[in-house]
Amino acid sequence: MEALRHTFEQQLAGALPGVEITLERPKSGELGDLAFPCFRAAKQLGKNPVQLSQELAKTIVIEGATLVAAGPYLNLKLAPETRAQAVLGAILETPAARPYGSRPANGKKVIVEYSSPNIAKLFTIGHLRSTMIGHALAQTHQFLGYEVTRLNHLGDWGTQFGTLLAAYTRWALEGNTDLEQDFDWAEPAPDKRRTPLFRLFQLYVRFHAEEENDPAMRDEARGWFKRLEAGDAEARRLWSWFRQISLKEFQRIYDRLGVSFDTLAEGEAFYEDQLVPTMQRLEDAGLLVEGDKGARIINLEDVGITTPCLVQKGDGTSIYATRDLAAALYRKRAYGFDRCLYVVGTDQVLHFQQIFAVLDKLDPWFKGRMLHTPFGMVKLPEGKMSTRKGNVIFLEDVLDEARERVAAIIEEKNPELKDKAEASEVLGMGAVVFFDAMNDRVKPITFTWDRVIALDGDTGPYVQYAHARIMSVLRKAGNDWATKAQAGTPAGPVVPFEPLALPGDLEGVAAPEAQALLFELAGLPNAIAAVAEGCMATPLARQLVAVARSFSGYYTNCPILAPENAPEVRDARLALCVATARALRQGLYLMGIQAPDEM
Ligand code: ARG
Repeated sequence: MEALRHTFEQQLAGALPGVEITLERPKSGELGDLAFPCFRAAKQLGKNPVQLSQELAKTIVIEGATLVAAGPYLNLKLAPETRAQAVLGAILETPAARPYGSRPANGKKVIVEYSSPNIAKLFTIGHLRSTMIGHALAQTHQFLGYEVTRLNHLGDWGTQFGTLLAAYTRWALEGNTDLEQDFDWAEPAPDKRRTPLFRLFQLYVRFHAEEENDPAMRDEARGWFKRLEAGDAEARRLWSWFRQISLKEFQRIYDRLGVSFDTLAEGEAFYEDQLVPTMQRLEDAGLLVEGDKGARIINLEDVGITTPCLVQKGDGTSIYATRDLAAALYRKRAYGFDRCLYVVGTDQVLHFQQIFAVLDKLDPWFKGRMLHTPFGMVKLPEGKMSTRKGNVIFLEDVLDEARERVAAIIEEKNPELKDKAEASEVLGMGAVVFFDAMNDRVKPITFTWDRVIALDGDTGPYVQYAHARIMSVLRKAGNDWATKAQAGTPAGPVVPFEPLALPGDLEGVAAPEAQALLFELAGLPNAIAAVAEGCMATPLARQLVAVARSFSGYYTNCPILAPENAPEVRDARLALCVATARALRQGLYLMGIQAPDEM
């Protein structure tokens, strides 16, 4: 397809000197494989676009393709066998290390910072969005040739630790909150409600509730944070223990999600010894101004941001923003990136505007490199979540519920399935993660089970099911057909498949339904590139649904294993099955979703 695109572009460039050639994808394979919108060229040449496209259709000649003028568009439509050759060749013949849709190394470095949960506040469904969007962005950038560093700006420092220390020292020894006593360190507690982290969280919520009626408690919490920042031994000991139990639980969740980071050590606390030098740099640059009650701020009015950036409180303690500034300066030194993506909710838009503006003032190197990719909040049907009030949806509850709902469906539809537990986990996860990706990244999403788990809509399980169905056809086909769709162990974002020679005769996939499937498969590289461009997984999720849907049309209308099929027909159709299975598996994998062989 790349070669054909190139020929088409060259021919157009020859016919239209001085015009910039950009090609699009037609709406359907019926219309063609590539489209040239004539508007801009027509304007430049003082012609009517409809007339220009008709003229071009007559002058351009490309072997194996017809040129069709469709209104103001000039469409290039491949002959069925040429299309099959181009798409199947691209998917099946590529070397294992450079799969379909990937690109060679481009020498650019990208930091993707994602997940970043707060210790003592537990992992909620909101963090799932950051985690899985970030994971998909990291995978995709790497697939497209970027060198990717995956960071987690763990919330392991800040005033909430003052609250936690105050709450813990007040109540922790009241029996039911005795964290240190009855926790088995070797095994995660069977009931997650009773993990130390959950109890810490309860203490946190209780403190905020009681503080409403007793404002003195606020000073108590502040006092503890000051002690912590000043290096008080008891405060440090407890902090480091809180951190340890949290990390243990977070790690369990990351393992379950199949997500990993280059380091978990560079959380907020990591920058502690860099705060003084950071403040000094701000001071030297003449950016610091005295704010309310001795606080230190940076004015950003000159760059259109009316709220100043607070970097130090009146009591001398650091804040979230200070640590983000220190982190950015550190990342420049340690990683020297081209792009740094912050996958963080829309509620922090102002925060990142401020941080980026301060960095621009401090060092022009940062200009254009920093990018906040906000995502919408996850809402309960009842309203907004608040950690302080305790009405949050916990990620693990969501994953567990998804698994149980899928298990019930399997029990009803396919009770014979082996490894039912494993399948339920993989499908439940697919449902939740895919639902998230199908939703526009920035809009808030309301989490309702019916929509997440629907196995017949635009869902993860629908795409996973298409894959499993292909695998079952390939198993029935015998020989080593199923092995041809079997992958090696993924390396980074790549699911490796052995290159496969195309059948000599591709007549068998000339039918319109097979052609429609080939057309959707041809759309995958664009969709993958769009994930990196738009910093959201939605285009890939949508394209995978389109592939799964057209597979279903193909399967119904082009019998694959019918006894009356000539061997060449059968082989061509099976090759299309293998290509589809490979593409679906790789695509889902980029999103952090597995494709089971049976379901
Ligand atoms: N820990 C924060 C939260 O859960 C997110 C951190 C985002 N990253 C950053 N560099 N500020 O709200």
